[in-house]
Amino acid sequence: MRLAGLRHLATLANSSVPAAEVMPARIRGRVPEAIWRRTSARLHKKPLHPLCTLRTEIASYFENRHPGVFNMHSDLSPIVTTKQCFDDLLVPVDHPSRAPTDTYYVDDDVVLRTHMTAHDVAFMQQGKTALLLCGDVYRRDTVDRTHYPVFHQVDSMRLYPPATERALIQRDLQADLTGLAYHLFGSDAKLRWVDGYFPFTSPSFELEVFWEGEWLELLGCGLLHREVLFKANVASDVNGWAFGLGLERLAMVLFQIPDIRLFWSEDERFASQFSSGTLSDRFKPFSSFPSVEKDISFWVNGNFHENDLCEIARSLGGDLVENVSLLDRFQRDGNISLCYRMVFRSMERSLTHDEINNIYYDIRESVATSLPVTLR
Ligand code: DAH
Repeated sequence: MRLAGLRHLATLANSSVPAAEVMPARIRGRVPEAIWRRTSARLHKKPLHPLCTLRTEIASYFENRHPGVFNMHSDLSPIVTTKQCFDDLLVPVDHPSRAPTDTYYVDDDVVLRTHMTAHDVAFMQQGKTALLLCGDVYRRDTVDRTHYPVFHQVDSMRLYPPATERALIQRDLQADLTGLAYHLFGSDAKLRWVDGYFPFTSPSFELEVFWEGEWLELLGCGLLHREVLFKANVASDVNGWAFGLGLERLAMVLFQIPDIRLFWSEDERFASQFSSGTLSDRFKPFSSFPSVEKDISFWVNGNFHENDLCEIARSLGGDLVENVSLLDRFQRDGNISLCYRMVFRSMERSLTHDEINNIYYDIRESVATSLPVTLR
């Protein structure tokens, strides 16, 4: 009964998740409260928010280039089945991205989507031949200025008339995407294509842009894998392309936003800097408040995963946790000792030592009781 209900939620196209407060605990399942709260934030729909600006910018690029072809869906529920998120997309059963250390499992076969591609097959099954999807995706990860357990993606697919040559579809895809990159980065941007790997496309490519001295990965794409098309009930002489891109990294570069936590800031000094709602907005940091650093050392007794430590730090320290990184590792008498440094900083104010000490001791206690380690 319980699983059937969840699967129902996961397969409802166009349904949004109820706010965390009204979400019954049984549906939250194993997902931490702080993460559930994010499912109703919908930053990509918040007017003048840089992620919303980027979303509409991408949608209007495709609308201008191919009027009436691509519909954008931005209200799909992030609760999906493992079948939608992984199996239908040929992600191998033992792929690390499926592990509970990397993915938020609601139940054994229901997850918070780790990518927007999770919806592609369902839309193809409904007979859709072109779409743009935008939404929030969830991954357990390390904690630093460019990683956050929730981020946003745009994903797209297009199917072509029967018997269209695959070479032509690939040329079309690459022309649309270099056009998008020039639209976002300016017509003098330096771009390059590199081979990529995604289980659901073959061949696969990545588009990179040269920005402030380095090559930056902009997006992944490719021709939809025959077997994915088969699962989507697409006729055997029909082919198509797909691509996906993350909005945060892109927005950080375009709007000069130095820390991914800022997207979640309620501070007016952040929001007020994006008043034009166009790509010409630039962020000027309001100030840099001092950081407080705390170290935690322990002996590892079992299957320790860094993401579990980061999750504890994030759930107790919230957005005050700026970075968690391995400082030292050594081995003695066959035992492994790790030392992690946690950096705390607020984007908005100075922190007091007392407040950080309290968080730090809570983190220590939670680590000691819930992870396979012994504090030193
Ligand atoms: N889903 C991939 C990810 O999250 C990105 C991606 C790559 C999407 C290639 C696509 C694609 O649709 O064709 O990393």
